[in-house]
Amino acid sequence: MIELDYRNVSADKIGREHGLDIQEAFAQHQDKLKTIVSEIYAQKDQAGGWKRWLNLGYDSTLADSVNQYAQSVKGKFSDMVILGIGGSSLGGYALLRALLHPYWNQLSDEQRDGQPRYYFVENVDADQIAPLMDMLNPERTLFLVISKSGTTAETMSAFMLAKAWLDKNLPAEKVREHIVAITDAQKGVLRPVANAAGYQTFEVPDDVGGRFSVFSAVGLLPAALCGVSVKEMQRGICELDAVLQKTDLTQNPAAQGALIQYLLYERHKHIAVFMPYSFRLASVSDWFTQLWAESLGKKHNLHGDVVHTGPTPVRAVGVTDQHSQVQLFNEGPNDKVFTFVAVGRPDRDLTIPNDQFTDVEDLNYLNGKPMSELMRAEFESTRASITTNLRPNMTLTIPQVDAYHFAQLLYLLEVQTAIAGALLDIDPFDQPGVELAKKYTYALMGRKGYEDLIPVARGEKSAVHV
Ligand code: PA5
Repeated sequence: MIELDYRNVSADKIGREHGLDIQEAFAQHQDKLKTIVSEIYAQKDQAGGWKRWLNLGYDSTLADSVNQYAQSVKGKFSDMVILGIGGSSLGGYALLRALLHPYWNQLSDEQRDGQPRYYFVENVDADQIAPLMDMLNPERTLFLVISKSGTTAETMSAFMLAKAWLDKNLPAEKVREHIVAITDAQKGVLRPVANAAGYQTFEVPDDVGGRFSVFSAVGLLPAALCGVSVKEMQRGICELDAVLQKTDLTQNPAAQGALIQYLLYERHKHIAVFMPYSFRLASVSDWFTQLWAESLGKKHNLHGDVVHTGPTPVRAVGVTDQHSQVQLFNEGPNDKVFTFVAVGRPDRDLTIPNDQFTDVEDLNYLNGKPMSELMRAEFESTRASITTNLRPNMTLTIPQVDAYHFAQLLYLLEVQTAIAGALLDIDPFDQPGVELAKKYTYALMGRKGYEDLIPVARGEKSAVHV
């Protein structure tokens, strides 16, 4: 199972100025955390509580429905295009990148066992979309249009382009077979459009917000279509969930992680660096960045006071960022908390040959060593340097990157985020700060009802007078 090592945040390791007395902190906050964890789990079925994502791991109907659909179209599509943004795409991308062959799209149809290549369109940039459409064969392409709200301009515009492309290239009666909509059961524009056109649909369940939706059809359908075991992910979540429900702080890694992040935030460590040491987990950094930023960055607390709170997540990947950001991490301001993710063993290993440049003494130390040993040494040495520089850091370790442990990693971070939100006394499930720019976009694009905002959106009127 996934493990959290927090020894390098302790005052013993990094001194009292930057570190915590862990035992004392756990003892002081045990009661509070007990209440928070119990309240979060007590709301898992409550309407309006936005915590129904806690149930997704147990939803065998969901697993069966995505698997059935995937089975029914197996071999039919060579390419799958996912249209979505934010919580409707980042989790799915992180998932496929971690659990499929790293060069999946370059494999032959036989090597992919008839499962589709995948492309994520999450930007309204024609330079991304047009070349993709030039390349794809409409007869062999499936679009998944994913939007919880069913209204998001970025997703809906891409969907309109996709639909027009299918209309142009396929017989009218065939088009609907190439579109799957994943959206709210009732709200938004996408649901009635999908129903009227007869598309295959899946729900983003009530009280599951975008950034907590990776284990709904949002992430599980792309996974099933590419042959990833949905049941294994659910098994991983359920087994971990039994641990995360524990109200004893000493036994609950999500509560420990949240408390440590919170206490260090209070001590002006306002930046949360997330750094997996794994090529396959690199995109988990992007998913975590959104989860942490959009959930915890808030203007108001739960009582309506203006607090402007929230740690700033920074994405990094080991070892690559050792040659980019680690200089700053080690010697810049001591204002960061680091979360490393380590993988017990890679699926593949390589041995550095011992018959190359044998006369070059300075390369001999590499001779005959496994790449995994070098990776491990680079991780441990970077972590040691961060600790030597008195910077608090934690490590999440998964034994290997597979469906079971990958799901545990993301689920633990989701629960940690919910607990951190409660500690910060904010609502981690809303995102009012995203709304203003959306409204300005509507104004600039001429949507009815937003005319008053045009002068500010255009920069013709100063925001201080608004
Ligand atoms: O986490 C969130 O709620 C957001 O990032 C949304 O996922 C994002 O804004 C896209 O919204 P929607 O899924 O409604 O299109």
